[in-house]
Amino acid sequence: MPEKRVDPDDGSAYTWEEISAFYKKKYTKNEIASYWETCKPEKKKKDKGKGKGESEPKGKAKAKAKVNAEPKAKAKAKAKANKQFKKGDFKVCVCGGAGGIGQPLSMFMSMDPNVKELNIFDLTVAMVPPAGVAQDLNHLERKCQVKGYVMEPSDKAIDKLEECLTGCHLVLIPAGMPRKPGMTRDDLFKVNADIAKGLVEACAKFCPEAVLGMIVNPVNSVVPAMAELYKKKGLDPMKIVGITTLDVVRANKFVGEITGKDPRYIRVPVIGGHAGETILPLFSQDKVSKTIDASKIADLDKHVQDAGTDVVNAKGGKGSATLSMAYAGARLGSAVLSGLTGRNKVECAYCASTITDLPYFAQKVVFGEKGVHKVLPLGDLNEHETKRLETLKVALKGEIETGTKYAEANTLAV
Ligand code: NAD
Ligand code: LMR
Repeated sequence: MPEKRVDPDDGSAYTWEEISAFYKKKYTKNEIASYWETCKPEKKKKDKGKGKGESEPKGKAKAKAKVNAEPKAKAKAKAKANKQFKKGDFKVCVCGGAGGIGQPLSMFMSMDPNVKELNIFDLTVAMVPPAGVAQDLNHLERKCQVKGYVMEPSDKAIDKLEECLTGCHLVLIPAGMPRKPGMTRDDLFKVNADIAKGLVEACAKFCPEAVLGMIVNPVNSVVPAMAELYKKKGLDPMKIVGITTLDVVRANKFVGEITGKDPRYIRVPVIGGHAGETILPLFSQDKVSKTIDASKIADLDKHVQDAGTDVVNAKGGKGSATLSMAYAGARLGSAVLSGLTGRNKVECAYCASTITDLPYFAQKVVFGEKGVHKVLPLGDLNEHETKRLETLKVALKGEIETGTKYAEANTLAV
């Protein structure tokens, strides 16, 4: 039996031939070889990585069929496999789409092959009219049609966004105030929770089945607030997903810098939350980062926790991370859309949770045909991570309560 390894991209096990057939179009042979090196060997022989009722990702299933077929049929299957799985024709909206994150995020999303319609929504006071951002993006060589929507700050989204949101599969929400030096993310709660509520309310009315990717800070409190408001209206709280991908991106990058390995093949899960000590990178769970000397881990951990503040300080009062956030937000957004096409993807995200005693947690989430398909267990933690988990829970609990109290005191007008 040829060796199988678990592709962290979707949690399923494949042979070298299957993986290389699948990634052939995307990467060079050497890059695929490096990627294969980072995949963990399959533990069990059967169905490793597949959950109950979870089907194998279509693209790789095709590649597998292709590899197992006879040589002649192989060539035919090869041509077919190059088509991979069926692309989606999804409708996506970016709320706050003319802002610092919104513009580059919209650009990434307009280039995603699964996006057919992209709506850019922002206020009349935004730095660029959303219609201008849309016009600009409409010149990229992609199938996506981009449209701008605008409203006055005194207007209510629920009164203005029917056309913009109806039929949306994914709504990304970077609308809100960013930090300035000296501020915590928590300081943004009052103003940003109200902005988020106005937008979530409109989504609850016009696209209740859509996945809502919440970028707006403080993620640790805004997500519980919005998910609990959804719950109160009988809607699915798992549709509200906090985007913490930037913490994963940063952890991978910093590990790459220390080890000299390509960060694209490093996958450090980052769990907990998205603020200071609530950010917990699990360096012991990645094949590259687990080789780092234990004496360096505390500093590396702190580097990831402080990375957002480092950007805020470097921007000197003119905003927080925008470009790296757009990259990270698009990675999560694309994973959600990939899941909707039937090709499951695993990413860390902050949403309702039962894997610890906290009701909301950043965790490894499998995105599938309906959005969040399932949450993966924490996995093994070393001594440092176990201790960090216990302390982070205290801080995160308080931040979750800020959100749940907001939901108790408010309601969605739908
Ligand atoms: P920005 O000020 O550049 O852009 C925000 C945009 O939101 C502006 O264009 C503004 O007009 C718009 N907006 C405000 N209220 C709105 C409303 N009611 N409806 C529609 N649009 C509205 O800020 P930014 O740098 O893009 O950051 C946005 C948010 O993302 C901040 O809260 C920031 O803290 C957060 N953020 C989160 C992460 C993360 O990892 N989750 C990373 C970076 C930034
Ligand atoms: C980040 O991590 O970059 C964001 O949460 C923005 C911030 O305020 O640090």
